[in-house]
Amino acid sequence: MSQPLVIANWKMNLPLGGIQDWIQDEMMPNVDIVDFDKKSSYFKFMGIAPPISHLSELKNLFSFGFLGAQDISKYNDGAKTGDISAAMMIEKGCSFSILGHSERREFYGETNSIVREKLKICLAKEIIPVVCIGESIEDYNTGKTLDTLEIQLKEIFSSIITQTVIVIAYEPVWAIGTGNTPSSSEVNNIHQHIKDIVQSIANVEAINVIYGGSVNCENAKSFFQQSNIDGALIGGASLDGKNFLNIYNDFLETL
Ligand code: 13P
Repeated sequence: MSQPLVIANWKMNLPLGGIQDWIQDEMMPNVDIVDFDKKSSYFKFMGIAPPISHLSELKNLFSFGFLGAQDISKYNDGAKTGDISAAMMIEKGCSFSILGHSERREFYGETNSIVREKLKICLAKEIIPVVCIGESIEDYNTGKTLDTLEIQLKEIFSSIITQTVIVIAYEPVWAIGTGNTPSSSEVNNIHQHIKDIVQSIANVEAINVIYGGSVNCENAKSFFQQSNIDGALIGGASLDGKNFLNIYNDFLETL
């Protein structure tokens, strides 16, 4: 099974005009379909990860789509103030969770071993994990990208056995929110390495590797045209519904 995905990661933001406008006025008018089944089929590769506080609203407006969490607890339940469990996320309609985003690593000290614990929780609950990895600008400039990614992958995925589809988001830290990106062919080669490494250290049925970091309407197609780029994780450009839909349509064209 394969799960290409174009995901909107709103982070701790909401679309400027509000969620209803984002879905109904900005995104939907461009989509010439009304029937629920057709909508479900059209949107089957689109995921939205809003702030948790807005999951229910989004679920009502985007019932035909794919919702996700930006993070989950590494615990299942109990006295863990501030945490939200995987089971709670599922109850809210989430079918995937972003894990180990570089902002979680930078601002909350999340390590590869914590990401691994969260990965195991996702797999036990059959939530699709969207595991973020990526190198710093120093690593990139000194040619250490693949070494850094290999360390991250080994610490997170070694000996993992699963039939749940795995999504890995390659997000170079220096590309997030900066307007700078590696070239699409560079990303393509890196994704091939990521797939090879995970296949060699874990027993997983399907891996999809998506790219994140300054994806926008202008550059999205060049990424999607590459054979090892199975989608995108989009921050800033996803807050505008029209832009996000344009990027999604570019993706559909290259399938
Ligand atoms: P930008 O698309 O704003 O660079 O953010 C990327 C990202 O961090 C998605 O998770």
